[in-house]
Amino acid sequence: MTDADQELRVSKIRNGTVIDHLAAGQALNVLALLGIDGSGGESVSVGMNVPSDTLATKDIVKVEDRELSQSEVDVLAVISPDATINIIREYDVIEKQRIDRPESVDGVLSCPNRNCITTGDEPIRTRFAVLEEGLRCHYCGEIIRESEITAHLTVT
Ligand code: CTP
Ligand code: ZN
Repeated sequence: MTDADQELRVSKIRNGTVIDHLAAGQALNVLALLGIDGSGGESVSVGMNVPSDTLATKDIVKVEDRELSQSEVDVLAVISPDATINIIREYDVIEKQRIDRPESVDGVLSCPNRNCITTGDEPIRTRFAVLEEGLRCHYCGEIIRESEITAHLTVT
């Protein structure tokens, strides 16, 4: 069986986004990042621990009729830097979106510090600087470690 055959376990999509080469174990985090819990009626396919050419095993997430926002791509770049994002139109891959480690992540994450200005009543869009050891809140300096990122996703 070739890898191409094995890929068919998760069928091709017509329009949308394929997030491929996720480190094994990241698929559920990506669903959380995208705010997908099944209640929105989106058509989503998930492969976990599927065979891969370049990684021992990988996860893959396919979302129909959706493209990722820059903030979502930025978080993805931090939690799964080797992921590839493929934009699909009429079954063809029309674009492979680059993912570069961003300088900052805006929105999408909430600050763990309850006294932070961003967690007050006045809505302020969060901003975190991306450092080697984690993400640092632009407003209060609180650090979110990379392993804790998914716990701080803003529920959309
Ligand atoms: N894919 C899909 N639906 C389509 C087209 C592609 O689900 N209509 C998936 C493929 O199964 C693959 C990913 O999108 O997981 C990228 O497709 P493609 O670029 O054709 O595959 P590769 O060349 O193997 O990609 P890469 O070079 O990124 O490994
Ligand atoms: Zn803060």
